[in-house]
Amino acid sequence: MEEELLLIPGPTNLSPRVRAVMGAPQIGHSSPKFYDSFKELLQLTADVFMGKRGLPFVITGSGTCAMEAVVASLIEPKDKVMVLDTGAFGQRFALINEALGADVEVLPSKLGSPSDTKILDERLSSEPYKAVFVTHVDTSSTVANPVSELSKVVKKNGALCVIDGVCSIGGSPFNFEELGIDVAITASQKALGAPPGASLLYLADNALTILEKRKSPIRSYYFNLARWRKVMEDPRVYLATPATQVILALREALRMVMEEGLEIRWKRHKLISEALRSGIKGLGMKIVAEAGFEADTVTGCYTPEGLAAQIHSRLTLDHNILVAMGFGPERERMLRIGHFGNLTGSQTLVALSALEATLKSLNVNVETDALAGARDILAKLA
Ligand SMILES: Cc1ncc(COP(=O)(O)O)c(C=O)c1O
Repeated sequence: MEEELLLIPGPTNLSPRVRAVMGAPQIGHSSPKFYDSFKELLQLTADVFMGKRGLPFVITGSGTCAMEAVVASLIEPKDKVMVLDTGAFGQRFALINEALGADVEVLPSKLGSPSDTKILDERLSSEPYKAVFVTHVDTSSTVANPVSELSKVVKKNGALCVIDGVCSIGGSPFNFEELGIDVAITASQKALGAPPGASLLYLADNALTILEKRKSPIRSYYFNLARWRKVMEDPRVYLATPATQVILALREALRMVMEEGLEIRWKRHKLISEALRSGIKGLGMKIVAEAGFEADTVTGCYTPEGLAAQIHSRLTLDHNILVAMGFGPERERMLRIGHFGNLTGSQTLVALSALEATLKSLNVNVETDALAGARDILAKLA
């Protein structure tokens, strides 16, 4: 049977190269072969984040592991933090901060809208905050935050800037150095094209200093970045057994990212996202994210009234394509389409044609040649 086309917002289909690594014989986690691979992976991680003044970390665990490790390690009980809520993953950062004793303030946004830079500036200049948590692309709302403007405001006001790039890094422009931020995180299973199971972080030197100089002890063993730092500086140090296959598969996936080239990869993701939006609008559906703040990696659309679940299941049963429903209260109104990793222009067109056929099969009126605009955009990828 042909492989299902995964258009959920992670995990994504793996390339044959990465799959071959997953199926290769087990190697020892404390063997020189593994140490060398891990060192190469750390260099590739720094390259993908475009980080120079700091330290990359790769830890076995999902993206939430990276989120929790940052909070447990850099935030002390009662520290005042600001969380920008553009969806469920900003809210998760607030929950983690609350669980670990921070004094949390949340800056909410309307569904589909980015965080408001002006209000953020007003809040941050009114009292000191230890850190601000920003989600670059919130996978639940499909909104891309203007990270460059937001991080400037955060740094101007003297707070640590932490960016969740789980749904952006590898698929949208992201340059740690240019952003001048302190911490960024991502996960293996989205735009990097690797299987789930590895969290990746980059900490700037000043974040490493804060880590070393904190007053209270870090109340965690596994989420303790001061401990993990020693492993990253010398992978022969044992802290916990890494998921070796996932780590090696991630190295292969990052090699592929760098072989393609970041700029070319970002452009591919951008064109695919433009084509998808054009096709979705051509089919008469509305995009969830406000114009100008749509993500290059995931697209949300409102389906014709009451049809989200049926479209979702027909795409799976009739076309072998898996998309996601809306998140939380939006579940029944929205579809979310993940488009990152190794996705090609022709797969994008297949997906749009399947969506068109599905709508027609549900008696939705679809204009003739609704996908013409998408086809034109995708032609630029050839
Ligand atoms: C933006 C964002 N942050 C964090 C996470 C959490 O990652 P994980 O599910 O790998 O723990 C996700 C997961 O989809 C995400 O999209």
